[in-house]
Amino acid sequence: MGEQYFARRPASRRRPAEIRVSVRGRPFTFLTDAGVFSRGELDRGTELLLAALEVGPCELILDLGCGYGAIGIVAARLSDGGHVILTDLNERAVGLARGNVAANRITNADVRMGNLYEPVAGMAFNHIVCNPPIRAGRAVVDRIVAEAPAHLREGGTLWLVARTKQGAESLRTRMAVAFGAADVVKRGGGFKVLRATKRTP
Ligand SMILES: C[S@@+](CC[C@H](N)C(=O)[O-])C[C@H]1O[C@@H](n2cnc3c(N)ncnc32)[C@H](O)[C@@H]1O
Repeated sequence: MGEQYFARRPASRRRPAEIRVSVRGRPFTFLTDAGVFSRGELDRGTELLLAALEVGPCELILDLGCGYGAIGIVAARLSDGGHVILTDLNERAVGLARGNVAANRITNADVRMGNLYEPVAGMAFNHIVCNPPIRAGRAVVDRIVAEAPAHLREGGTLWLVARTKQGAESLRTRMAVAFGAADVVKRGGGFKVLRATKRTP
């Protein structure tokens, strides 16, 4: 069994790889490595999330648990005049994400290392987008959901993706508790994309 992808400092031997994909009709190249999530190909859940994601111009977006950076890099390309912050606690992922931001000539994004929302303390976003680290355990995923409203602007949106068989419905229920409502906005390949919007009564 390989090292868990959410180690802070992966010790596994380097095995660099390159993924070339077209997302939303635009080409992207991602350098990946051993010790990061979905080294060999864009994860199916990530792909579905990116197909569903609706971001507008000039928005502030958080890619929480960015891995090698696919979500944040695509979001940065989709939001003209916007800005994306990508975060992860895995230092190898952070290094790859920084390289991939540069390699894809993304100028409206920066990558920060740290646990959950710590790297963006005090900030509020239009969107938080996350393929959550289910294997890191329920407590981590619960914090991503429960602490999201405090990091969203009014009308801001939390986007998550999860495998139907890894508790997507239970995750939707937890989002509904934190936000008042949560919807399945896309499904396919055994995954569901979940969305909840912050609305103060
Ligand atoms: C399922 S992977 C998704 C990676 C990437 N967003 C993608 O779609 O390919 C979840 C990511 O969350 C990161 N992660 C796990 N626990 C974390 C934590 N406590 N704080 C920040 N990131 C964390 C992992 O290192 C991993 O890169």
